[in-house]
Amino acid sequence: MASETAHTQVAIVGAGPAGLTLAALLGRAGIETVVLENRSRDYVEARIRAGVIEQGAAEILVEAGIGERMGEEGIVHHGIHVQFDGERHHLPLSDLAGGRHIVIYGQTEVVKDLIAARAAADLPLQFEVDAVSVHDFDGDAPSVHFVHGGRRVELRCEVIAGCDGFHGICREAVADRVRIFSREYPYGWLGVLAAVAPSSEELVYASHERGFALLSLRSPQLSRLYIQCSPDDDLGAWPDARIWEELQLRLAVDGWTLHEGPILEKGITPMRSFVAEPMRHGRLFLAGDAAHIVPPTGAKGLNLAVNDAAVLAEGLTAFFANGSETGLDEYSERCLRRIWRAEHFSKWMTTMLHRTGDDPFVRRLQLAELRYLTSSDAAARTLAENYVGLPSEFFGLTPRSHANARA
Ligand code: APR
Ligand code: PHB
Repeated sequence: MASETAHTQVAIVGAGPAGLTLAALLGRAGIETVVLENRSRDYVEARIRAGVIEQGAAEILVEAGIGERMGEEGIVHHGIHVQFDGERHHLPLSDLAGGRHIVIYGQTEVVKDLIAARAAADLPLQFEVDAVSVHDFDGDAPSVHFVHGGRRVELRCEVIAGCDGFHGICREAVADRVRIFSREYPYGWLGVLAAVAPSSEELVYASHERGFALLSLRSPQLSRLYIQCSPDDDLGAWPDARIWEELQLRLAVDGWTLHEGPILEKGITPMRSFVAEPMRHGRLFLAGDAAHIVPPTGAKGLNLAVNDAAVLAEGLTAFFANGSETGLDEYSERCLRRIWRAEHFSKWMTTMLHRTGDDPFVRRLQLAELRYLTSSDAAARTLAENYVGLPSEFFGLTPRSHANARA
């Protein structure tokens, strides 16, 4: 097989939100990057993922240069509903959390926009690369090896960003040096995308005796719905009629109708909490799902990935400008403070809302907590400020300076 060497400043493994946002921010700072993705562009652009973007994460995406379509098609929400015992309660997130909001815009759309911007700028992004491996990141001349288009490539670089998701190879490469924290939940989410106008303007999180259900949306014509199922349920056991029947039962409230429509896509995701510490290993930096996973109940996965990318971009911008490693030294700790807050929040939301076994004691406690949440301002504020995203200052960190990224 023919082989060649190439060079770049930052080799980015993985074209998900973490890798693509990092590439876009570094591009704005005049830093060279090559993005390597093992799947095809079609595959990456078709993958349905989450859709709730914190205001702060949306601002980072704007800074990364993809604010335009998100600004036009993204839907700003100021509240959510929480439902239990057949009652639906409104939580006015923005009123409770200093005016901050969330934007409903699919992760799939974010990824499409980032890929389109990169293609328009004619910057390197290689899909369908094989046999990716990372080398020599303990020194100052690391490299990434891969096979692409029948050629073996050695990509020499100064820094490697491991943005290759939970099943990627970058965390594997430091498996003997990371400390892993992990929990699996005894349930999964069956998610569907349905061609029907959302039956509620704002999201509905429902805790029901039959299990959790969530009504969300992607656009005025597209609903996104989830139901708690068993993590090893087979999709075959969930024909469309059964999905709607279960959603109707779990989301029902008097005087409200859940409208049904054709199901365009469905899938089952397991739920886990996972953190690999630290996130820096010499010149290899882990970001996004490669380093951490949250159960989707708090809608934090995409937001954490975007935040990691922003913190890393800031550290790398200073590093390439004047050799300063301060930002890189702080990278792991800066990210982990927010990550652990999100881990706690996501686990809290998950255990409060899902059915775990048949123990009536546990159910009574869940209901007591949900009643407190929907009747106490203090409790509602706790959910709200976490849900819309806490500012950097909350973590005892100075806000990111955008000076370099904007230059
Ligand atoms: N080489 C190159 N690319 C790889 C490799 C590899 N060996 N292994 C995986 N990848 C790619 C995946 O195909 C994927 O496109 O890395 C990318 C990782 O992207 P994501 O899984 O989307 O992870 P991340 O960018 O960290 O974004 C996190 O995604 O899973 C959701 O809930 C999660 O919203 C969160 C977000
Ligand atoms: C989604 O719309 O996909 C979504 C919304 C809220 C969540 C998780 C997923 O908590």
